[in-house]
Amino acid sequence: MFPRARSAAVPRVLITDNLSPAGLEKLEAAGGIEVVVKSGLTPEQLREELKSADGIIIRSGTKLTPAALEGQTRLKAVARAGVGVDNIDLPAATKAGVVVMNTPSGNTVSTAEQALALMFALSRNTAPAAQSMNEGKWDRKKYTGTQLAGKTIGVVGLGRIGQAVARRCVALEMDVIGYDPFLSSDRAKELGVELVRDVDQLVPRVDYLTVHTPLTDETRGLINAERMKAMKKGVRLINCARGGIIDEAALAAALRDGTVGGAALDVFVEEPPPADSPLHGCPNLLMTPHLGASTEEAQELVALEAAEIMSNFLKTGE
Ligand code: NAD
Ligand code: MLT
Repeated sequence: MFPRARSAAVPRVLITDNLSPAGLEKLEAAGGIEVVVKSGLTPEQLREELKSADGIIIRSGTKLTPAALEGQTRLKAVARAGVGVDNIDLPAATKAGVVVMNTPSGNTVSTAEQALALMFALSRNTAPAAQSMNEGKWDRKKYTGTQLAGKTIGVVGLGRIGQAVARRCVALEMDVIGYDPFLSSDRAKELGVELVRDVDQLVPRVDYLTVHTPLTDETRGLINAERMKAMKKGVRLINCARGGIIDEAALAAALRDGTVGGAALDVFVEEPPPADSPLHGCPNLLMTPHLGASTEEAQELVALEAAEIMSNFLKTGE
């Protein structure tokens, strides 16, 4: 850990991503904090700006790499307006003595709603049907869909978002099977979810599968080619969590050979997916550009929470 520089009289908070104005107003209203908004910084500019910052508030656009964090002696805290801290190198932050905080609950409902929106859209071919009408067609037969009520959905990861999705699926009269090694059977019962103790118990039974785990060594490629083959033919898959939990190359192959009947991805291994991604041009694939938390409500909530935790931390050290 590097020694802390003596604090400047007025703590300075740098904001490098697009934060809802409510968050900026809250920081300013807290008083005694200098707020500096600078977006579109190069890695070198970010490193330079951090030298004179006590705190930084980011979303997912700013990458706090080891190179950005190394040797920063003034920086004390990072607040991530959102859940995932995968754009922050945690060992480098620890080494530099920088506290990392996130705002885990502000975007739960919006992200759950995005997963449901994608599930509905997959079931009713909404995107290709709309596209065909834009092309002047009126093709009712081609876009016959499937009803959700009575279908079985697997929810992998039953934390904040997974539980919000599960509750809503129960309300849609779907049968919900869940897998989360840390969920108690009592909580599953309360949610109306059948809990299984192994993801492979759920895989062959579901018509839809949605993942809501963090990306870890355990969850990377959790839904892989082998598991896709074990699923019902025509299963529909949804990922609004993190790119790579559903293996992208395996998914592209399974969509092309029809093993998987449809998929919706809001998140990608590389964002945006590179031009040579196997996902481009796949049949029955619906992609959205990481929009799970992109609602006015969620952005306001996470910005307010980030502003609060940052100003509290800088004023009280907690
Ligand atoms: P959470 O921490 O509340 O829940 C994650 C759950 O996953 C936990 O209950 C945990 O026990 C479970 N889990 C961990 N490893 C598992 C494994 N191997 N198998 C099954 N379950 C496992 O997190 P959350 O707030 O619900 O967020 C879930 C995911 O959604 C995260 O990856 C987050 O980054 C992502 N997210 C995406 C968006 C978006 O814009 N698309 C928005 C918010 C969150
Ligand atoms: C998150 O981790 O909160 C989401 O991916 C949303 C975001 O990055 O804004």
